[in-house]
Amino acid sequence: DAPDADPFEIARIAAAEIAERTGVAQHDIALTLGSGWGKAADLLGETIATIPAAEITGFSKPALEGHVGTLRSVTLPDGRHALVIGARTHYYENHGVRRVVHSVRTAAATGAKTMILTNGAGGIRESWTPGTPVIISDHINLTADSPLEGATFVDLTDLYSQRLRDVARTIDPGLDEGVYCQFRGPHYETPAEVQMAKTIGGHIVGMSTALEAIAARQAGMEILGMSLITNLAAGIQKTPLSHEEVIDAGRKAEAVISDLLARIVGAI
Ligand code: 6GU
Repeated sequence: DAPDADPFEIARIAAAEIAERTGVAQHDIALTLGSGWGKAADLLGETIATIPAAEITGFSKPALEGHVGTLRSVTLPDGRHALVIGARTHYYENHGVRRVVHSVRTAAATGAKTMILTNGAGGIRESWTPGTPVIISDHINLTADSPLEGATFVDLTDLYSQRLRDVARTIDPGLDEGVYCQFRGPHYETPAEVQMAKTIGGHIVGMSTALEAIAARQAGMEILGMSLITNLAAGIQKTPLSHEEVIDAGRKAEAVISDLLARIVGAI
């Protein structure tokens, strides 16, 4: 957190600790599992090690129910090593954007070339009933913040890899895509804010992922983003939103979308 600290050096230290604790020198692919996606960790392959994230340099204690707070090393059936991040620091926790993207930078430092970012989010399209998985095609970052510091200019064209989106569609050709709007949270949006998001080209509203994707791109990773629509956004859905509803929708959809994700990872 110190202004003169080097977040990339801290990520390298964290990666070295993960290599030591897992016995895996290099990971190939990393996944951040948001609400509803957690079961994918069990379906990907064989878990080699599970580490409470708070024991690794730079990771914070989990703030939320529905967030498991562990890092897992999983060996896929084809021998690739996946780093499964079940510990997300949200921007709204006010630990600063460096903490938000630390897991992504650590994943890159472990050697991962592919970053899969998942979340539970609100849907703006009425056809997306709770439990619908959606591919993120692009994002609109409404946090007014960035993980990049100083004059670091990074291109975000094709941020969410067209190649990986196509791979996901080979597994489920019916998958829809949408533009993810990252709001700061932790309050849900007003109906007027949801209308704004829709007007500026958004389809999904959430509180994560965009800042992490920017950091992953800076690190040179290829990115796949997927949202589980846990509810429709305020004003689209006529009933009030609740965190319980979000967690519940995640629980109900978990088996199906985790299986989908594991099959996508197998095809990458
Ligand atoms: Cl409606 N908004 C945001 N920002 N995050 C969510 C959500 C809505 N539903 C689940 N997560």
